Amino acid sequence: MKFIEVEKDWPFLIHPSLAVLLTAKFQKKDTITPIAWISPLSGDPPLLALALKETRFSYELLSKSKEFGINIPSFDLAEKVWLCGTNTGRKVDKFSLSGLTRMPGKVINAPLIKECIAFLECRLSADQVFGDHHLIVGEVLKAIAKEGFFANCYLENFSPCLHLRKNLFLKADWKSLKEV
Ligand SMILES: Cc1cc2nc3c(=O)[nH]c(=O)nc-3n(C[C@H](O)[C@H](O)[C@H](O)COP(=O)(O)O)c2cc1C
Repeated sequence: MKFIEVEKDWPFLIHPSLAVLLTAKFQKKDTITPIAWISPLSGDPPLLALALKETRFSYELLSKSKEFGINIPSFDLAEKVWLCGTNTGRKVDKFSLSGLTRMPGKVINAPLIKECIAFLECRLSADQVFGDHHLIVGEVLKAIAKEGFFANCYLENFSPCLHLRKNLFLKADWKSLKEV
């Protein structure tokens, strides 16, 4: 068997990854930042971890407000995910740009995104630099899903937006579902 060397593209060996939309707000400014490098970190206390570059406008907003939202889009929002990931909230209002709708959170001031399927409202718990990203740890204060889409796990009517690399997205193949 032959092997190919994978150099700078190595992160894409651990994709596809769920693409989520991070929302953050400070004073009158907000933004929507797609994130693929995200993981649960602790069940109790409920913590999640994500990698965020310091240059992102969302980094500036969440480090000032100490809170952020994680919104889970379905595959049909892939074009809007890409649009939000190729523009900065420093220059444009991403809600107007994408046509996505602000929805108030229950415990955070940052807006959530009405068109998404599930939501995690988080308080910034830790922020540490690792190489070219910050490891952002969020305490999950509230987790909600739209009725009919989740019961212990996502249901068949939900197709996540899976990120392969750059502008390539996949949906879940529910026909392949296997109970082992
Ligand atoms: C699907 C997708 C996943 C991304 N994942 C990350 C990520 O995990 N961390 C990160 O810092 N940037 C990530 N980006 C890049 C940011 O979303 C992008 O730079 C965005 O325009 C920043 O917006 P902002 O300046 O308004 O925060 C991703 C982009 C896309 C399209």
